[in-house]
Amino acid sequence: MRTPLIAGNWKMNGSAELIRQFGERFAQAGLPEALDITIIPPFPYLDAAQHAFEGTRLGLGAQTLNPVHSGAHTGEVSGQMLKEFGVCYVLIGHSERRQLYRETDDHVYDRTQAALSVGLTPVLCVGETLEERDAGDTMQVVLRQVGHVMARLEPAQRQQIVIAYEPVWAIGTGRTASPEQAQEVMAGIREYQAGFDTQLAAQLRLLYGGSMNAGNAAELLAQPDIDGGLVGGASLKVDDFYAICQSAG
Ligand code: G3H
Repeated sequence: MRTPLIAGNWKMNGSAELIRQFGERFAQAGLPEALDITIIPPFPYLDAAQHAFEGTRLGLGAQTLNPVHSGAHTGEVSGQMLKEFGVCYVLIGHSERRQLYRETDDHVYDRTQAALSVGLTPVLCVGETLEERDAGDTMQVVLRQVGHVMARLEPAQRQQIVIAYEPVWAIGTGRTASPEQAQEVMAGIREYQAGFDTQLAAQLRLLYGGSMNAGNAAELLAQPDIDGGLVGGASLKVDDFYAICQSAG
């Protein structure tokens, strides 16, 4: 009932040549029918990607957006601008934004509202650090991050959200959460959502992120509450990312 979503977050990586390779490879048949796939490249590649991905299974996402639509915000990009390039999804609250650029739960909420206001699907990223996990605070941290946004949205807005659970200690480290660890947190997030609306909880798409690769994707995606992946490093290799998408069938 929930269509899986595999999203490749290129972070500050990639090239025009890589865009071309993805467009060519994903024009081929061989992927599961019921599967959404999106590439999330750096902003400068969106235009080329929109053209290269035409007629393929690849959709487009962005890595962040500014909460306001336009104005004197040097270096920033708005949701309306992203829409012009065919962007459908936008990452919000990725742990790298929270840690490196000091984004707080309030910033995350504001960006979520901005995305919703222009019809972009927010992919709300949450996850605990290793210290928080070791202290036994995983669910408390994750539900605080989820709740800070979800509890303040209108019911109709909640239906538009995708949540990505990314344990910070698993991002870019090669240390993947075990399927059981990931499933436990995903189930907790879904249960939290059920507190608002059980139908919403059943429809909510939950992605796992953190060293997902072609070798471990199938086992993670087989978990009952994992509906897809937010893939970093492995989304920069066209064969690996294609294989991850195949395992989502
Ligand atoms: O957005 C993607 C995540 O941060 C995961 O990155 O697959 O390189 O660990 P990773």
